[in-house]
Amino acid sequence: MSTTIAAPPLAAGVAQSVTSGSVTVPGHVAIIMDGNGRWAKARGLPRIAGHREGSRAVRRTVEAAIQSGVSWLTIYAFSSENWRRPLGEILDLTGLLRRYLRSEVAELKQAGVRLRFIGDRARFDPDIQKDLEVAERDTIANSRLNLTIALSYGARAEIAAAARAAIAAVQAGTLDAADLGEESFSRFLATAGMPDPDLIIRTSGEQRLSNFLLWQAAYAELIFLDVFWPDFSDAHFSAALREFAGRERRFGARKD
Ligand code: FPP
Repeated sequence: MSTTIAAPPLAAGVAQSVTSGSVTVPGHVAIIMDGNGRWAKARGLPRIAGHREGSRAVRRTVEAAIQSGVSWLTIYAFSSENWRRPLGEILDLTGLLRRYLRSEVAELKQAGVRLRFIGDRARFDPDIQKDLEVAERDTIANSRLNLTIALSYGARAEIAAAARAAIAAVQAGTLDAADLGEESFSRFLATAGMPDPDLIIRTSGEQRLSNFLLWQAAYAELIFLDVFWPDFSDAHFSAALREFAGRERRFGARKD
């Protein structure tokens, strides 16, 4: 039986799980894809091999999300802190991103996926920035799955930028400071117009959010899995959705 209970009205942008029959499917799943390096190390392979295999896991997961009826999938592919990695690894990761954008977008478009990117894209090479723009534009009419890829993303920077934008709106006279609340503030975030994640999954056994969607995660269910990202399969995805369906979400309200 579904454990979904009546919740008090929440501001726009809040989580949107859907109850169908007795199963509650999270409307928005976000994933911290962790463990590529350890996966490679365990096999005596270079880290790039882990990232390459991780890229295949992204493909499987997009497929699994579509099959499961999840409408929003957000993946953390490159954090603002990842720029501190050795140059060789940064080049490997940006190279993989370039290949992903050039080889997968047509197929994603065909499958009804709408792509969005959040994060500081200005830090990427101009050709990648162009590919990001084209991918967003080419898939704008799709709605089967909303796939958001966080790139050079950090939640604290996102919140600080939103605060600056809100201040600018007040100074320009388009926003009354007294009207700035949770809902109006969230419209200044990179995720404006997106529902909050219902479920955040992190692989590799680490149990933290690492600067990912800190504002949006307020009521997300968290699932930490002891599997390295390259080994993440549709079976792991389905198991996480089953665990989510069994959770009781109260959004701070009382049960009775
Ligand atoms: C964390 O593993 C993963 C990353 C920093 C990058 C994630 C990238 C991919 C899954 C592949 C590329 C994705 C796209 C969308 C093209 P880690 O390197 O921190 O692993 P470790 O903690 O075991 O060292």
